[in-house]
Amino acid sequence: MERTATSGESDTRSSVSLTFDHEMSTAEVESLRRSLGARTALHVPPGVGAAFARARRIGFAQSCCPEVGALMSVLAAAVPGGGRILELGTGAGVGLAWIVHGLRGRTDVEVVSVEIDPRKSAAAADAPWPEGVTLVVGDARNLLPSLGRYDLIFLDIPGQLKASLLDDTLTALKPGGQLLIDDMNPYWDQGATRRPRYAGAPERVLEDPRVVCTLLPYATGMILASRLFGEESA
Ligand SMILES: C[S@@+](CC[C@H](N)C(=O)[O-])C[C@H]1O[C@@H](n2cnc3c(N)ncnc32)[C@H](O)[C@@H]1O
Repeated sequence: MERTATSGESDTRSSVSLTFDHEMSTAEVESLRRSLGARTALHVPPGVGAAFARARRIGFAQSCCPEVGALMSVLAAAVPGGGRILELGTGAGVGLAWIVHGLRGRTDVEVVSVEIDPRKSAAAADAPWPEGVTLVVGDARNLLPSLGRYDLIFLDIPGQLKASLLDDTLTALKPGGQLLIDDMNPYWDQGATRRPRYAGAPERVLEDPRVVCTLLPYATGMILASRLFGEESA
């Protein structure tokens, strides 16, 4: 079981979520949630639990939180056959495990995940990824223009790098494709302990004429964007 700080809100109840990587009944999970005063309690799939264990092993604490990963699962499940998914920033493979969980064994979707740090990529590679998953070691800023186009992109590299990659990321989205950007919590600068990692840039995404966006102000905060059809030259 993990306790994860997920927001900068002041009351304790809403700032903690619980995640479980082993089998417990729904009643047991709910009872623990209430007794600990946690906001949410989520089961994580076994592949995600294993990825969290790899992250702990290498001392990596920046894996996406379960609420964000679970959303990536949902979005991955909607990618059509022959589709492509890209993750920018593999870490230890937690987000990737959520994506694979959403695909439910499908091998008709290609998944590419890019990580600049060979040590983290090696940790992520230490898992039985299904056919169709490729881990790439390299700098997303150099690689992105040559990686082709995608139905779903998870932009999860740190801070201002997101801003510098934004244009190429939107270009890499197919019409109708979806983009999830993590760490967009707009409340971090209002008395929160964590500073916003992407100050100023979320507004730019929300106003880009190529996409329709919304801010999802829960967990670490996300922007979800859909690329418009017929906007190739925008
Ligand atoms: C927030 S973590 C990613 C977490 C991962 N997506 C997950 O869900 O568990 C950000 C990762 O981006 C990697 N990174 C930083 N700069 C990068 C770059 N220029 N290209 C690719 N990866 C980069 C970091 O090494 C780090 O592992």
